[in-house]
Amino acid sequence: MTIGPTDHKIDRLVHLLVRNATVVVPGPKIASEIGVSRSTVWEWIEKLRELGVAIKGHPRHGYQLEKLPDVLVPSLVRAELPNAEIGHKVIHYFRTESTNRVALELGAQAAPHGTVIVAEEQTAGRGRLGRCWYSEKSSGIYASIVLRPPMPPAAAPILTLLAGVAAHDAVRSATGLSGDIRWPNDLLVNGKKVCGILTEMKAEVDRLHMIVLGIGINVNHTSMPDELREIATSLALEGGRHYSRLQILAELLRDVERYYHMHLNEGNAAIVREWSAASSYADGKRVQLKAGGCEASGITEGLDASGALKIRRDDGRQELLVAGEITELR
Ligand code: BTN
Repeated sequence: MTIGPTDHKIDRLVHLLVRNATVVVPGPKIASEIGVSRSTVWEWIEKLRELGVAIKGHPRHGYQLEKLPDVLVPSLVRAELPNAEIGHKVIHYFRTESTNRVALELGAQAAPHGTVIVAEEQTAGRGRLGRCWYSEKSSGIYASIVLRPPMPPAAAPILTLLAGVAAHDAVRSATGLSGDIRWPNDLLVNGKKVCGILTEMKAEVDRLHMIVLGIGINVNHTSMPDELREIATSLALEGGRHYSRLQILAELLRDVERYYHMHLNEGNAAIVREWSAASSYADGKRVQLKAGGCEASGITEGLDASGALKIRRDDGRQELLVAGEITELR
């Protein structure tokens, strides 16, 4: 089930409450400023409360924020990113099937480079290799970025690594937690996955129309479902505190933009260098690899210039991994 993007008037309501955070704002004033009825204001306040936005109702006086909200509505995200290219346009959903799916649809309708789709909840979040992405309401970041890079489709995998490095840096600067990147771009904290990235593209054989970088970060989950507990965690579970999703998302978009420009200026070598510095999987890691129906074990030997992972298999052959997955062997 896909419901439409968030009404921009809800965004204005949140913005109005934030601008007046220290005072009680009368319901009729809110209603007239954003151009809806008082009952709609009440309905939307309830909706925001369901997402964890703490709004106190003062009978006959109005509404007041109890603390700054952690919803990823466009006005709050954009306020963190003045002059940004990536995030200059943010489209927010309370709930959607998959932000990647929306981004691909909007991209096909000419959504510009740098458009970001973000959702509080996904009902069919997509993961790599046909898996699902667990997308608990208001706990994680579920964002997809539309990019229109001037490169051929065959060169696009480097952007997948770029997104991993950006997520690594964003998590470190917004939370202080240091992560590790498992090739190609899973972000692990204390050995468990906190962030996954699904890159999808629309291209002809020799022409790339767009890339969608879909990024999911487990931020404030207080527990993980049984089937994921062994392999996945959240930043809150590891850091022992609640984090601002807004700060992490803003940092992430800034870092994607920074690395995107680094790539335009310096080429693949810069991303290969940054990725290798951020990942213990780059070199000398004993791993099990699964790719194209084949399974083998071996030791990693760095990235090649395109971002493919070199692995020396136990039988002596060198494997160049361009897709698939690896796990650490201890
Ligand atoms: C993985 O399997 O590791 C990739 C997970 C990617 C999840 C994100 S959440 C936002 C975007 N929308 C999706 O449907 N998937 C990606």
